[in-house]
Amino acid sequence: MLQVKSVSRLFGQKAAVDNASFTINGPSFVGIIGRSGAGKSTLLRMMNRLSDVSSGQILFEGRDIAALRGAETRTWQSQCAMIFQQFNLVPRMDVVSNVLYGILNRRSTLQTMFNLWPRADILRAIAILDRLGIAEQAPKRAEALSGGQQQRVAIARALMQDPKIILADEPIASLDPMNAQVVMDTLKRINVEDGRMVVANLHTLDTARRYCDRVIGMRDGRIVFDGTPDQLSTGVARDIYGADASFNEDATSTAIPKDTSADRTYADLMMS
Ligand SMILES: Nc1ncnc2c1ncn2[C@@H]1O[C@H](COP(=O)(O)OP(=O)(O)OP(=O)(O)O)[C@@H](O)[C@H]1O
Ligand SMILES: [Mg+2]
Repeated sequence: MLQVKSVSRLFGQKAAVDNASFTINGPSFVGIIGRSGAGKSTLLRMMNRLSDVSSGQILFEGRDIAALRGAETRTWQSQCAMIFQQFNLVPRMDVVSNVLYGILNRRSTLQTMFNLWPRADILRAIAILDRLGIAEQAPKRAEALSGGQQQRVAIARALMQDPKIILADEPIASLDPMNAQVVMDTLKRINVEDGRMVVANLHTLDTARRYCDRVIGMRDGRIVFDGTPDQLSTGVARDIYGADASFNEDATSTAIPKDTSADRTYADLMMS
C-alpha cells in the first residue's frame, strides 16, 4: 500500500504540488492527468525520491519514503523503478547491457569497469527482453531501435530491478500511435500478470480511460479528481484541464482508434 499524505513541494513561493493526498492499494494501474505544469512529474519524482518533499509523508508498507537518506534512498529507488518519456538508455551501448544497468548498483566497481556480468543475470535480462517481444534486439545498440522498442528496453531495465512499483512519466509522449499502444499494453501486462503497481503520467484522456483502473486529475498542484475512468466525464475533464482550455474530445484523445486492436489486445490479456 502506498499512501501519499498531505505532500507539498515548493519551488520558491510556488507550490508545484500542493497538499496532495491519496492511497493506492495493491496492484492498481493509476493514471495521473492534468495540463502542462499541473505538477504531475514533480509528484512522481517525489515518490521515487528524485525530488524531496517540502512537507508531508509518503508511506510504502508503513515506512516513510520521504524521510529516507543515503543508501536507503537508493534501495527504495530500486524497488520503485522509473520510466521516462525519453527512455534514458545509453544509446551506443547494446540492448542487453542497457537492461543489466537496472541492477548496476549491485555490482562491484571492477565488474562495472570491465562490463562483466554474471551469466545468470545475462540470461535473466534476455528472458525479460523475450517476454517483451524484443529478445532478437539484445545484441544491437540501443540507438538502432525504434522508439517503441527503446521504451520496451527501458521497461525491461525496470523489470530487471524486480520493482514493487513502476512509475512512468509520460511513457508514450514521444511515440507514434502504434508504438504507444505496444508500450501501454506492455505496462498493462506487467500490472496484471506480475501484480505490480503502475503509476503513469499520461497526457491524453483517452489513454487514461483505456488502461487505468483509477485516474487522478491534477490542476495547479492540487488533486481535483480521483476516481474511476467511467467517472471521467467531459465536465470533470473540464475541471481538470481548465474551463479556458480549448477542450474537446479530439484534443484530448490519442490517435489510437477506439475500435481497433487496442481493445482486443487488452481483452485477450484479461481473458488469458
Ligand atoms: N526544478 C524546478 N525548479 C523550479 N520550478 C519547477 C521545477 N520543477 C518543476 N517546477 C515547476 O513546478 C510546476 C509543476 O511542474 P511539473 O513538471 O511537475 O508539471 P507537469 O504536470 O509534469 O507538466 P508537463 O505536462 O509539462 O510535464 C511548474 O510550474 C514547473 O515550472
Ligand atoms: Mg511532466
